[in-house]
Amino acid sequence: MKFLCSSLAFLALLPHAFAAFWSDDVRLKHGRGLWAGLVTTINTNNGDITSLVFNGKQLQDSSKFTQLSSGLGSASVSSSVANNVAKITITTSTIVNGTPISLGVNTIYIGTSITAEPDVGELRLIARLSKSALPNGTAIEGSDVFLINGQTRSKFYSSVPFIRDQVHGGPFFRDINNQGSAQQELYWYMNSNHEQTETYRTGFFGPYALAITSGGAPSASLNTTFMDSLGLRGYVAASAVYNFCAGSYSGTLSGTAVTIGFKNSAAQYWVAASGSSINLSSSLSVPSVIWRIAGFLNADKIESMHPVLYISGCLDDSLFRSDTRMSKWGAASSFPMAQFKAVNNPTTIKWTASSSQIGARTLRIRTTEAFAGGRPQITVNSFTSSAPAAPPAVDSRGVTRGTWRGLNQVCKWFWCQSLVLFR
Ligand SMILES: *[C@@H]1O[C@H](CO)[C@@H](O)[C@H](O)[C@H]1NC(C)=O
Ligand SMILES: *[C@@H]1O[C@H](CO)[C@@H](O)[C@H](O)[C@H]1NC(C)=O
Ligand SMILES: *[C@@H]1O[C@H](CO)[C@@H](O)[C@H](O)[C@H]1NC(C)=O
Repeated sequence: MKFLCSSLAFLALLPHAFAAFWSDDVRLKHGRGLWAGLVTTINTNNGDITSLVFNGKQLQDSSKFTQLSSGLGSASVSSSVANNVAKITITTSTIVNGTPISLGVNTIYIGTSITAEPDVGELRLIARLSKSALPNGTAIEGSDVFLINGQTRSKFYSSVPFIRDQVHGGPFFRDINNQGSAQQELYWYMNSNHEQTETYRTGFFGPYALAITSGGAPSASLNTTFMDSLGLRGYVAASAVYNFCAGSYSGTLSGTAVTIGFKNSAAQYWVAASGSSINLSSSLSVPSVIWRIAGFLNADKIESMHPVLYISGCLDDSLFRSDTRMSKWGAASSFPMAQFKAVNNPTTIKWTASSSQIGARTLRIRTTEAFAGGRPQITVNSFTSSAPAAPPAVDSRGVTRGTWRGLNQVCKWFWCQSLVLFR
């Protein structure tokens, strides 16, 4: 009894974060006190997180673990503790995954650095948590869109960009997010071939984090400054960035959120333009217009709901259903953000030209993505254009999994008063 008491006293004096090696794993204690907080166990043979005990409750699934890709197979794993920060480094020939754990914080911070795309063809971390410990999320199913009381659930939603949702985001869209199957799965996608428009980049991805709470939403602004001094491969601390852009922008539509992106083959950056300013010039024309359409029906919902559900495989329009929170596509009061051949095609715009507007004119239709060769074709009064060539194909689903970003295209038709059109 005396011995037990002194053991407890000894443990209570340990730093809040400490690492202890067991036979083939390293165990990290995040919280204060003996049983409080999170205790994380990492397999030193492959870097899998095999146990996440929070306030005495096991959150990790026991058959499938929390890991990069679908597990690294084998990896070299080292750990160190300094200044109440434990740093676990998981290394393969192409991957270095740093998982720092800060004092007294029930959060696993992660930074992933790669020199080659993983064999699974996408870069992702999957937490496979215990379904019995974390039962919520059963409505979000795996394969892969489900209807619950008229609303849709999918592992793909939402696609809200990271710059608008720091808790659940990817840079421009979030890929697979979470699903409850045999495990409760959470995903952090760094890249994938879903609606892929650019070549994969390598280098550092992150920081990102798995934050465990007692039920409250985790903070939307996790403080990752402590990672600045850890020497993670490829990590650049904000304090080490000397070159900033400043200036102004113009030529954008008023009332529309502006995102400015910078990219080359090595990196990409983006900024929500409101309130900041950057001098940019573009080779894109901003033509003066007689009219243009802006503000598209359901555009505000597409990133988090399903636009079209095939009920009983039937293509009858009356049986097409969207998430009930969306406006009906067919009876559109404003131009729909997506056109589906079997649902809302054609869409008719009625416009009466004033005498001064009649003359040689150009109609441009710009699209951000197309699927299965979908492309615009126009009819003006009695004239019907030929169909333009099929747009370049983008792999995998787009609008039906919550993203609209693809390979931007423009179709142009010119006509003069006699309505002879050509493109
Ligand atoms: C989680 O599940 C419990 C038990 O079924 C339920 O009472 C609670 O409302 C759920 N919470 C959320 C956020 O869905
Ligand atoms: C973030 O953490 C650092 C120490 O790692 C601290 O110096 C800084 O004040 C913190 N920032 C905020 C906003 O809390
Ligand atoms: C941006 O343009 C404005 C107006 O031409 C100019 O005054 C300012 O110096 C420019 N800023 C940069 C960073 O070039």
